[in-house]
Amino acid sequence: MDPRTRPIGVFDSGLGGISVLRACTALLPQEDFLFFGDSANAPYGEKSLAQVQALTMAGVRRLLEQGVKAVVVACNTATSAAITLLRETYPQLPIIGIEPAVKPAAQGRSNSFVVVMATPLTIHEDKYQKLASTFQGQANVISLPCRGLAELVEQGQWSGPVLDAYLQELLLPLRHCSVDYIVLGCTHYPFIRRAIQTNFGRPVEIIDGSDGTARQLKRQLENAGLLRPPGEKGRVTFQNSRPDRLPMSMALFEMEV
Ligand code: DGL
Repeated sequence: MDPRTRPIGVFDSGLGGISVLRACTALLPQEDFLFFGDSANAPYGEKSLAQVQALTMAGVRRLLEQGVKAVVVACNTATSAAITLLRETYPQLPIIGIEPAVKPAAQGRSNSFVVVMATPLTIHEDKYQKLASTFQGQANVISLPCRGLAELVEQGQWSGPVLDAYLQELLLPLRHCSVDYIVLGCTHYPFIRRAIQTNFGRPVEIIDGSDGTARQLKRQLENAGLLRPPGEKGRVTFQNSRPDRLPMSMALFEMEV
């Protein structure tokens, strides 16, 4: 079998990584994708480092057992906790992670005021702390741990009063700051981009790392000689450790954001 025709595995703690999957299918429409969301164990962002490492290793193993040619860790939390371990364990495998898009935000304007929304674990981990401190001089980077927010997305609260109340309380203290960018540092958040914008109360640029991750996937496949030649449209398959979440997976894949 031509290795280029094998699917690409995409992993997340739950449904959020579908925002990254969408960017990947848009850039690489000829590829087959196998998405595994571990909703039974979400949220990862409020677990210990060791728990997230073990769950991420198990999720990636599951994808490899199904013959994927590359893995996208479409979860900022799992990337910060386990990307080094994954690369040590599978040195031959193209593994693409995601991190909060602090760099483009910090470099977008001079003295940017950047607010980073992410899970408590992502913000706590060294990988993010180093990233934020690299840009702290040229920008004002404020980190906002959003406990419980990914869980609202998992439950299907993509708009409405519960989400609005959460976001208003979170964003109220920032309303009078001259924020230039809000960085969505969790792959669940692009699905509530509109609610974040509305509850922030005034126009602000909201960015996420999906497109950059998709471009990185393309580069790594090219370098490994694994890019599928252009042709028919590829297939997208969803799996979830909570099969009742599969209908929501389709809805999010098709959602206008
Ligand atoms: N989607 C994940 C991320 O990008 C985290 C959600 C969770 O806490 O499970 O960080």
